[in-house]
Amino acid sequence: MSDLSSKVALVTGGSRGIGAAIARRLASDGAHIALTYNNSADAANAIAEELRGHGVEAEAFQFSADETGAAAKLIDAVVERFGKLDILVNNAGVYHVAPVADSEDSLFAANIDTNVRAVFEAVRAAAGHLSDGGRIVTVGSIAGLRGFPGASVYGASKAAVASMSRSWSREFGARGITVNVVHPGPIDTDMNPADGEYAPMQAGMTALGRYGTAEEVAAAVAFFASPGASYVTGAELSVDGGMGA
Ligand SMILES: NC(=O)c1ccc[n+]([C@@H]2O[C@H](COP(=O)([O-])OP(=O)(O)OC[C@H]3O[C@@H](n4cnc5c(N)ncnc54)[C@H](OP(=O)(O)O)[C@@H]3O)[C@@H](O)[C@H]2O)c1
Repeated sequence: MSDLSSKVALVTGGSRGIGAAIARRLASDGAHIALTYNNSADAANAIAEELRGHGVEAEAFQFSADETGAAAKLIDAVVERFGKLDILVNNAGVYHVAPVADSEDSLFAANIDTNVRAVFEAVRAAAGHLSDGGRIVTVGSIAGLRGFPGASVYGASKAAVASMSRSWSREFGARGITVNVVHPGPIDTDMNPADGEYAPMQAGMTALGRYGTAEEVAAAVAFFASPGASYVTGAELSVDGGMGA
C-alpha cells in the first residue's frame, strides 16, 4: 500500500476486468478515482459508489475511445469535476484478432483507434493538466513484446503505446512526471476468460502454469503510481506469469 491520498487518478476502462481492479487498488491506496466505461454504465456507477463507500471521491464517465476527440473531452470533464489530475491510467482496450489473410479493414481500425489513437489523444490532452510529479501508466500486453498467431495488429497496437511511452518519458521528465507501461499476460477477464477455448494453451505458455488475476496487474500499476516509483520512468513491466521468459 502507498499513500496516494489527495491524488486524483483517471482509469479508462474501469467498469470491468483489469481497469476495475486498478480503480479499486488506487482507491485503497487513497486516491480519488475517475473511471470510465464505454457501454457498462451500471457496472461503472456501481464501482464508483463502492469506492465512495471507502471514503474517496469517485465518479464514472462515459468514454468511447474509438471516437476521435473523446479523450480530450474526458480529460476536461475529469479536471472540471476533480479540480486536477495526478495519475492517468490508459487501460481501456479492445482485442480484435484474426490471421492477417482473413483480417478486415475494420479489425485494423478497431485495434489502432482504441488502443493507440485514444491513448495518444488522452496523453496529449492530459499534458497541460497533469500535476508536476504526476504519473502516466499504460496497459500494454505481452502481445506487444512477442508474436502470437492472429494478434499481429493487436500486438502492434500495444508495441506502439510502449514506444510512445518511451518518448513521452523524456518529454515529461523535467516535470517529474513518470511514464511507464505494464504488459499483462493472460489475465482472467471478459476479454480473455480463464475457461475459454484457448485458455489451457495460454496458461501452458507461462512459467507459472496459470492465468493471472486483474488484481495482480493492478498491483504493478499501483507500484508505478506510487511515490516510491519516483525514479522509474520509460520502463515496461511484464505481469505475465513468465510467458515472455
Ligand atoms: N485480459 C487479458 O488477458 C489481457 C492481456 C493483455 C493485455 N490486456 C489489456 O488490458 C486492458 C484491459 O483488458 P481487460 O481484460 O480488463 O478487458 P475487458 O474485461 O474486456 O474490459 C475492457 C474495458 O475497456 C472498456 N472499453 C472497451 N472498448 C472500449 C472503447 N471502444 N472505448 C472505451 N472503453 C472501452 C470496457 O468498457 P465497457 O465495460 O463499457 O464495455 C471495459 O471497461 C486492455 O487494454 C487489454 O488490451 C488484457
